[in-house]
Amino acid sequence: MANRMTINYEKKPCYDIVFVGDFGLLAEELADFGVSERKVAVICDSNTKRLFGEEVTKILETCCKKVIVHAFPAGEANKTLDTVKEIYRRLIEEKFDRKDLLVALGGGVVGDVTGYAAATYLRGIDFIQIPTTLIAQSDSSIGGKTGVDFDGFKNMVGAFYMPKLVYMNVGALKSLDDRQFYAGFAEVMKHGLIKDAIFYEWLLDHMYEIHDRDMEVLLEMVMRSCGIKKLVVEKDPKEQGDRALLNFGHTIGHAIEKAKHFEMLHGECISLGMVAAAYISWKRENISMEEYYEVRDMFVPFQLPISVDGIEPEEILALTKSDKKMEAGQIKFVLLKKAGKAYVDRTVTDAEILEAVKEICFSDEDMRE
Ligand code: GLY
Repeated sequence: MANRMTINYEKKPCYDIVFVGDFGLLAEELADFGVSERKVAVICDSNTKRLFGEEVTKILETCCKKVIVHAFPAGEANKTLDTVKEIYRRLIEEKFDRKDLLVALGGGVVGDVTGYAAATYLRGIDFIQIPTTLIAQSDSSIGGKTGVDFDGFKNMVGAFYMPKLVYMNVGALKSLDDRQFYAGFAEVMKHGLIKDAIFYEWLLDHMYEIHDRDMEVLLEMVMRSCGIKKLVVEKDPKEQGDRALLNFGHTIGHAIEKAKHFEMLHGECISLGMVAAAYISWKRENISMEEYYEVRDMFVPFQLPISVDGIEPEEILALTKSDKKMEAGQIKFVLLKKAGKAYVDRTVTDAEILEAVKEICFSDEDMRE
């Protein structure tokens, strides 16, 4: 029997997350959605098509009316409206109507793009998430955020649109290289840091099992991480308040991502952003210097960066201004009260941001000295 968790939306059960170790229960889970009468489009990228496309398609063919596969090239650079347009074209060609179903098979980019296509095609068609990366399993597949980047700005165009099911095959995490795996782990750390000190400590205590991708530990880790996300998104599904806590590390992280032309992974950038936010939290005397260094140094054994070179702090500051987490010209910055408790602060100044960015960045000038 699979472990499951129901995500409520507007106080009503909305969709289930099923936590499993393989794709063995997929047909059974989908049967509830009447798929024998529905066409299904599996949307994946070049990586997930190669890794899981055949296995998932074979299973879907046993239970769905018709299955098509649509793959696009992997990478954040393809999280665009052009990719969504190609999906619309394919769905139109294949005569998909509103009763049919999309399946997002992949990481954060696939989930966000497919969700946005589902939200907008014929004004809304059902979709199911099959997240295969840690970033998607711990964060992006839950909570209904869908969308694309636009002109280099992260997630600038999108919609809140809930999946019908999230089928979480934790076994898929074995397919990730270490860099991808730990980039996803940054979001798991984030959940501990913003909401749950006990979970944060548990992560540190299980460092070796996590590194070895021990399935039992990964299953517990993903479930606990999703439990934290559930609490946050159920309380504030459309990010009018506390959901913004999930953006811990993201204001500066997104700016670094853009300044680095998306060459660094999202999780790597938000690790840097979390270090910078912890630094501001220390400077404001929310946390002690020891706590700051403790938080900062915990990223290291998980192979996440705590400093970066080739970036100008002023450029990062300027880029934080164009992030969509601004409200009436003010940045909604997330700071720590302590490890395990975060809050949204609208008073963080340019000088504080600049100082924090200097803490994590070596400018080209420093490199020359
Ligand atoms: N990944 C942040 C959120 O879902 O709100």
